[in-house]
Amino acid sequence: MASVSAHPDVMEKLVSLAKRRGFIFQSSEIYGGTGSVWDYGPLGVELKKNVKDRWWHAMVRARDDIEGLDAAILMHPRVWEASGHVAGFTDPLIDCRNCKRRFRADDPAIKGTPGAPDAQCPVCGSKGTLSEPRMFNLMFKTFMGPVEESAAIVYLRPETAQGIFVNFLNVQQSTRQKIPFGIAQIGKAFRNEITPGNFIFRTREFEQMEMQFFVEPGTDEEHFEYWKAQRMEWHRSLGLAPDRLRYKPHEQLAHYARAAADIEFDFGGSLGYQEIEGIHNRSDFDLGRHQEYSGKKLEYFDQPRNRRYIPYVIETSVGADRTTLALLVNAYREEEVPGETEGRTVLGLSPSIAPIKAGVFPLVKKDGMPEMAEKVANDLRRAFPIFYDDGGAIGRRYRRQDEVGTPFGITVDGQSTQDGTVTVRDRDTLQQVRVAADQLRGYIAERIGTTE
Ligand code: GAP
Repeated sequence: MASVSAHPDVMEKLVSLAKRRGFIFQSSEIYGGTGSVWDYGPLGVELKKNVKDRWWHAMVRARDDIEGLDAAILMHPRVWEASGHVAGFTDPLIDCRNCKRRFRADDPAIKGTPGAPDAQCPVCGSKGTLSEPRMFNLMFKTFMGPVEESAAIVYLRPETAQGIFVNFLNVQQSTRQKIPFGIAQIGKAFRNEITPGNFIFRTREFEQMEMQFFVEPGTDEEHFEYWKAQRMEWHRSLGLAPDRLRYKPHEQLAHYARAAADIEFDFGGSLGYQEIEGIHNRSDFDLGRHQEYSGKKLEYFDQPRNRRYIPYVIETSVGADRTTLALLVNAYREEEVPGETEGRTVLGLSPSIAPIKAGVFPLVKKDGMPEMAEKVANDLRRAFPIFYDDGGAIGRRYRRQDEVGTPFGITVDGQSTQDGTVTVRDRDTLQQVRVAADQLRGYIAERIGTTE
């Protein structure tokens, strides 16, 4: 567990804001909720989509050495034997025979040695009812076809990476890519986590953005260092504070890894620094295993050197939900406003990530202002997500947009209908400038910046 952070714990406030303003809702809430599964509302889906678009742009569109892929969630069950997940994707668990709860074997709340008469259940308090640790697989199982029998078992993928490995030659041969090159995909993954929690930090259904970079053995260490640096730079480019990001090398390596490092973000409070992305040197483990289990050659043919080999893989694996949470935590602030009695809550999201780019407001509902404001909003809506609001005092309308991270507030006032200009208020500095209404699109586009 990380030590307590210097940054405040804003998680409870964020959960409440996220629900109130339509970012994130508990799944199946009217039925009492589903454990650690969340639904993204109108603003949340935009925010997470912006994160995924930024990743896709940086990893696929802006490069000529990475190809995109969208592999199916359901895969041949042998995939998970080859990958090591059937045998090794497990956590040691302890059951309480009295209250039927399950705990991870390393749960610090357990007193005594599980299996022994003195061991005490941390929930119901009964003694001697805790089992010895047993291995529990984290993959969700289901059945393919009409018969529910063991031969029909398939798994919901616990990572997207395997869809890339099994398509390595399909992609390489169809695109004629030469090593080094990568394959990237974004998709859902499922893990029956035993200790989920902290809102969307650890959930049972989540989205991963994974890239496997295929390299010549012997060059893997330099590619590993390159991707570590690239990925840190990407997190910074989203607006995550550099002093809340750090690398954490792995001391214990997974069965497939030659080297591994996490990028961690400081989530504040007792959660503190936690992994948001893993960068792994997976060697030739995955392709080698799939070659062995499928009986199909997964070698790369280096034509100029007339040489065949199984490439090594450098993997970058980041959670879309966890990055979204990091962005929300990073952006949340409460502050006083000079000259006002009421403070404000702000999501200081970078303009390119913010779900709504501008609020458009008529100062009052008369004198042609609503008509002009609606026209401004409709013009801008073709280029950006816009929110039109004519309800309540203008200060209240600004505050409502501050709270969801909208970077610009555009107000049509008495002068607007005379000279065709509007005011544009900056969410962070509160400064207002006058801009000609017919120049607004270019002005906002420039302030939002590029999608790099
Ligand atoms: N293919 C390698 C792999 O899956 P991982 O470290 O298990 O590696 C990579 O997962 C990333 O996926 C994590 O850094 C995290 O951002 C995200 N992730 C993993 N489990 C998650 C969960 N239960 N809920 C939300 N995000 C998760």
